[in-house]
Amino acid sequence: MTKREFLKTSAGIASAAVFYPLDQLMPEVAHLSLEEVAKDERFWKKIRKGYRLKPDYINLENGYYCITPQETLERYIEHAREVNYQGSWYMRTVQWDNKDGVATRLAKLIGAEADEVVITRNTTESLDTIIGGYPWEAGDEAVFAAQDYGAMRIMFEQVAQKYGVVNKIISIPNHPKSDEELVALYENAITPKTKLLMVCHIINITGHILPIRKICDMAHRQGVEVMVDGAHAVGHFQFSIQDLDCEYYGSSLHKWLSAPLGAGLLYAKKGSNAKIWPRFADWKEPEDLRRLNHTGTHPVHTDLAIGNALDYLEKLGLERKEARLRYIQNYWTDKVRKHPNIIVNTPVERHRSCAIANVGIKGMKPHDLAKTLLDKYKIWTVAIDETVVHGCRITPNIYTTTEELEVFVEALKELGAA
Ligand SMILES: Cc1ncc(COP(=O)(O)O)c(C=O)c1O
Repeated sequence: MTKREFLKTSAGIASAAVFYPLDQLMPEVAHLSLEEVAKDERFWKKIRKGYRLKPDYINLENGYYCITPQETLERYIEHAREVNYQGSWYMRTVQWDNKDGVATRLAKLIGAEADEVVITRNTTESLDTIIGGYPWEAGDEAVFAAQDYGAMRIMFEQVAQKYGVVNKIISIPNHPKSDEELVALYENAITPKTKLLMVCHIINITGHILPIRKICDMAHRQGVEVMVDGAHAVGHFQFSIQDLDCEYYGSSLHKWLSAPLGAGLLYAKKGSNAKIWPRFADWKEPEDLRRLNHTGTHPVHTDLAIGNALDYLEKLGLERKEARLRYIQNYWTDKVRKHPNIIVNTPVERHRSCAIANVGIKGMKPHDLAKTLLDKYKIWTVAIDETVVHGCRITPNIYTTTEELEVFVEALKELGAA
């Protein structure tokens, strides 16, 4: 590390130390409506001070994972120190009670029963456990979309090769005319042989929030179980698993809950999990969801830090966070949607999206757009060039300022005019 880099890093640490603890900050906005808080730039700038952010670029790529605020990060580091101090005493005494306690809090957040949720490392582990362990028979069918996440699609391909499962793959339009259009797309792919339907709660490449309850109701009428990929939903916007009424749900908590890396959850509706074969065998009874969750010795301090991420979210209020995230997405998309050369690949109706959106420039390849945004405008995004989605995924977070979004909008307008 050069002297200059060291000074820059130390300055970063020093500035992070002035963050406002949420306990002090929240009374300032307690009297405001959700709409008022969503637009209160002074408040969100104070929230921003609670993050340590690289000054090299504007980070509009929180979709991979949402960096952890200092308030949570410091607790995570303390937990690592404490577990290391206590050694196997921790593992043999309170490890499992602590894990169950945090899982119970997660269950409460998503409106599930305590014994319907386990902590996993990520959505991939959660959903691939279900796909891989499903009691498939040759000729069974599965339905999902081309816009689903690659890791799950490839897992379905693997079970197709291993068990002779037939996969029916639909394509989701970026701008649906109605919920019914989307439900019909899934319904048309179902046959009497269909066993499992996978659907994204929010499609990661476009930010499109799908009408899960209507899709579940339709699937259940045909005797088909539904597994929801909620990688980007928990900690992003409000929902209750009971309202969705799916059988299985997976999420990554290092995404919008801002827990440290390597934290996820798996939900299985009571009575649905007993038939799933665990990837790693366990002694528990088939009805016990924890039977699917035998991952051996793992970083248990992460489980504890999920609790701190929940504390942070509870103090901030998920309803405030959702309102701010939706506000900032619409702040920039509203300014470019009507531009003739700028293509927003995210539905315009407010309820069909939240923080995530996708944008392309006519005649410009997504990878060139991402590279130009970084090289010329110092804006970090990710290129998406697959199925019907050609553009950059744009994922601001609660620390993103409207000034940063103005820089982005001006960049898009310049590129759109070229
Ligand atoms: C829709 C969706 N599903 C699943 C995943 C996998 O998440 P993880 O890598 O945390 O398992 C992602 C990751 O971005 C995603 O966007």
